[in-house]
Amino acid sequence: MTNDYSLNPRNFTTVRASPYSCGLAGVKTYPLFINGEFVAPEAPATLDVLDPATAEVIARVPDASAADVDRAVKAARTAFDEGPWKDATAQDRGRILLKLANIVRDRAAELAELETRNTGKPIVEAEFDITDVATCFEYYGGMATKIHGDVIPVPDNAMSLALREPIGVAGQIIPWNYPLLMASWKLAPAICAGCTTVLKPAEQTPLTVLELATSFHDCGLPPGVVNIVTGRGETAGAAIVEHPGVDKIAFTGSVEVGKTIMRNAANTLKKISLELGGKSPNIFFADADFAPAVEGALFGIFFNQGEVCSAGSRILVQRPIYKKFVDAMVEKARAITVGPPMDRNTKMGALVSREQFDRVREYQEIGKQEAKVAFGGGRATSIPGAGVLDKGFFVEPTIFYDVDNHSRIAREEIFGPVACVIPFDSEEDALRIANDTYYGLAAAVWTRDIFRAMRVVKNLRAGIVWVNHMQPTYVEAPWGGYKQSGIGRELGKWGVEEYLNVKQVYINLSEQPIGWY
Ligand code: NAI
Ligand code: MG
Repeated sequence: MTNDYSLNPRNFTTVRASPYSCGLAGVKTYPLFINGEFVAPEAPATLDVLDPATAEVIARVPDASAADVDRAVKAARTAFDEGPWKDATAQDRGRILLKLANIVRDRAAELAELETRNTGKPIVEAEFDITDVATCFEYYGGMATKIHGDVIPVPDNAMSLALREPIGVAGQIIPWNYPLLMASWKLAPAICAGCTTVLKPAEQTPLTVLELATSFHDCGLPPGVVNIVTGRGETAGAAIVEHPGVDKIAFTGSVEVGKTIMRNAANTLKKISLELGGKSPNIFFADADFAPAVEGALFGIFFNQGEVCSAGSRILVQRPIYKKFVDAMVEKARAITVGPPMDRNTKMGALVSREQFDRVREYQEIGKQEAKVAFGGGRATSIPGAGVLDKGFFVEPTIFYDVDNHSRIAREEIFGPVACVIPFDSEEDALRIANDTYYGLAAAVWTRDIFRAMRVVKNLRAGIVWVNHMQPTYVEAPWGGYKQSGIGRELGKWGVEEYLNVKQVYINLSEQPIGWY
């Protein structure tokens, strides 16, 4: 079929085929978004975009080349170096972000549906994601006018200033688990700081950010400030990382690619921020409130099909409640409805891709060798109203128990709905097991003992620690990992720092010669 590139954003309509019945006739090929326009890529190669609930192709996007990336970087470079972005005030940038937030709220239903169709996540969860996207743009819209420098007392008749300036062109590479939300976590602080960007969505989930781009003009974003290039990581992604015109890389994804990016960014000595994976411990002491704890254990790992960087994938349970806890988890897991993502009763949808499905299925099999199965362990097919699930990438919520912390399922990030329950005796034990991992993104501790809670919080080596909950995430608070879970922080006042440079300015107030010679 021929590729139909809409060059005018006004003619650019949403993919609108009804869920589960989208034939190839309804398939649209999206263009790239460069310099404020939807443009055809240099070469016609495309990537198929699937609905993971049916495995049907719902759209195509350009498989962009290094030449396309170069064009996008040049647009971002010109917008940054020559304006009008260069002259935009902090107030201008704030207003643009607030308008973008409003547009996201106006388009929330459409964006949530598209997100669900492209990721397989339940529509109810996608609606929360889109609300969070708007809140993120709003938050950084308010922050744009609050970025300011310092005046430093120096021991001379002089004034010393530290100015905070945008770092320049940011290359932003994002994953598929929260497509538009991850885009907003990257775009909002960059725009807030006055940077320009080239953003590459994940191969699997490029649609919502391309749709949002149709509104960039309406919210006053000048051409070239945000450019969106779709394509593969090894080609388009790598080209962004290596491009000398890019000043900074912000990446969210796997540890493996994070390491590659760090190596490749070294050639041009770019600043990098990396938000990588985890194997986060969710720790339950015997005195924890039982019912909320059991639900917290399930929510921590089964939310968003477990495709969450901070998933509580290692569930550490103190011996006195261990057996009762595993039984209660199983009982409650029976009530998790795996089903069509657009169904409002669905609690767990499809995994994002066949690759991710195969990967999770493989770990389910490895788990059967390494530990005991309490629940699940296979593909999800026999759900009421089935048939629908047969074609999609659905798996059962899976609970392994008596897991050894040194086994593969306890050490490697699975990124799916696979829980590893590990028993422990003392607080010391819990901390040793919890910290015995290369990762350090998140952790949670459940207890009614405030002294114990605070001791554990202090001793956990993780960037995010929850007490008596797991997963709440706020744009106001810092997000990022210790150890091999990453470098830098997103969100809050920390997030914008990643896009700023500091310029030291010395102003001599003495009119006399130095008197050195
Ligand atoms: P990935 O890390 O390969 O992909 C994430 C992004 O990086 C995508 O946009 C991809 O195109 C890009 N990318 C890939 N190779 C690149 C390269 N050489 N240079 C520049 N960009 C590159 O993740 P993938 O393969 O989709 O998933 C594999 C595993 O990674 C998952 O099973 C999970 O364990 C982990 N992951 C972690 C995420 C997180 O939020 N921390 C998100 C997604 C995946
Ligand atoms: Mg990969």
